[in-house]
Amino acid sequence: MSNTISGFSKRSKSEKIDWLVNTYLPNNKQAKQLLTQYWNTDTKLQQLHDEFIENTITNYYLPLGVAPNFLINNEVYTIPMAIEESSVVAAASKAAKFWLERGGFKTKVIATEKIGQVHFKFNGKKTHLASYFKFIKPQLLKDAQPISANMEKRGGGILDIELRDKTTDIDGYYQLHATFETLDAMGANFINSCLEQFAKTFKNEAIHFDRFSSEDSQIDIVMSILSNYVPECLVRAEVSCPVAQLTEQNGITGEAFATKFIEAVKIAEVEPYRAVTHNKGIMNGIDAVVLATGNDFRAIEAGVHAYASRNGTYSSLSHAEVTDDGIFKFWMEIPLALGTVGGLTGLHPLVKLNLEMLGKPSAKMLMQIVAVAGLAQNFAALRSLTTTGIQQGHMKMHLMNILNQFEASPSEKENLVNHFKTETVTHSAVVDALEKLRR
Ligand code: MEV
Repeated sequence: MSNTISGFSKRSKSEKIDWLVNTYLPNNKQAKQLLTQYWNTDTKLQQLHDEFIENTITNYYLPLGVAPNFLINNEVYTIPMAIEESSVVAAASKAAKFWLERGGFKTKVIATEKIGQVHFKFNGKKTHLASYFKFIKPQLLKDAQPISANMEKRGGGILDIELRDKTTDIDGYYQLHATFETLDAMGANFINSCLEQFAKTFKNEAIHFDRFSSEDSQIDIVMSILSNYVPECLVRAEVSCPVAQLTEQNGITGEAFATKFIEAVKIAEVEPYRAVTHNKGIMNGIDAVVLATGNDFRAIEAGVHAYASRNGTYSSLSHAEVTDDGIFKFWMEIPLALGTVGGLTGLHPLVKLNLEMLGKPSAKMLMQIVAVAGLAQNFAALRSLTTTGIQQGHMKMHLMNILNQFEASPSEKENLVNHFKTETVTHSAVVDALEKLRR
């Protein structure tokens, strides 16, 4: 096959691009120029980015925006957001402003426990395995000491290891289920290193355990890996105000707004089709901050959606109510395993800047900021959905994308942005207006 290649990763960046263009883009005369025009002229900076992954050919830009005016536990934050979707930062800023005037966001870290598992097979007697685990547990902890010493010095480390019997699910399947406190680190490397050490000790020492007969002493390690499901690494974010203060500029009363808003949340609580989109809106805010602060948004996504299904049906992450004394409350509890040290946080210059902008937060503080961004985004989406509809604001923000798609000049942009201040933005309306202007 002419499009396979060996030793690709060893080639220079230029050679990689040449191969790629010759093999897949022979008719695209601009391809090489397009890829290289995104290279940074600061070669040191470019090299840093090249070395984040293998086979880097160029940089892929995402806008970095900021949403100001977030009042969180009486401190004001400007939140950095890396995202391509046109209306997200605008919606976050709007929600921040709305709640700035109504007491702001209240947040609390509920727990910070992380999880990792050694998955193994064992076909001997369960009672023997239980005795072996009891016997070997101190050794598991001791052998992991060189790995955990630094973390312990700072107040974290391995919290516990349990033996879990999963044989009703898979024949002979057990786990060492371990819990960790990783402080300001997301902790993936720390946890995985500890787990691999547990696995080694657990397997190697089994042959010396006298209650295991030679035939049932076999422990087969399947794998050792952290879990991105962290229901005990949980943060809560909340907003509240008297219902009367919810009154919208467009005339809707606070009571009517609260009723509709709560209905919308209730629908997301019971209807998975809606819950997925509702939670996607929350993740618009969460992912953008997670990305801007150099954290792993795939881990966050996987963990959050698993949490949204923890009761057996996929459901809303946020909840709302009006209390007996007329207070509107809107809140969310979500699992967020985040780091403010390690990984990209000390490497990517913009990540460092973003963390500095947030006041160099601890992982706990970052959990609260990220949760607030998610709740704000959800509030903004539900507020639009239950009042004006989502398209009005969304298409206003999307207008510039449509104009850029048709290569509108600066004066055409100015003219049409003005025009659409009072007109409904649709793709065809923009195209028509642009054509009219050009005629
Ligand atoms: C769009 O990115 C997000 C929304 O669909 C969220 C929602 O429906 O709640 C507007």
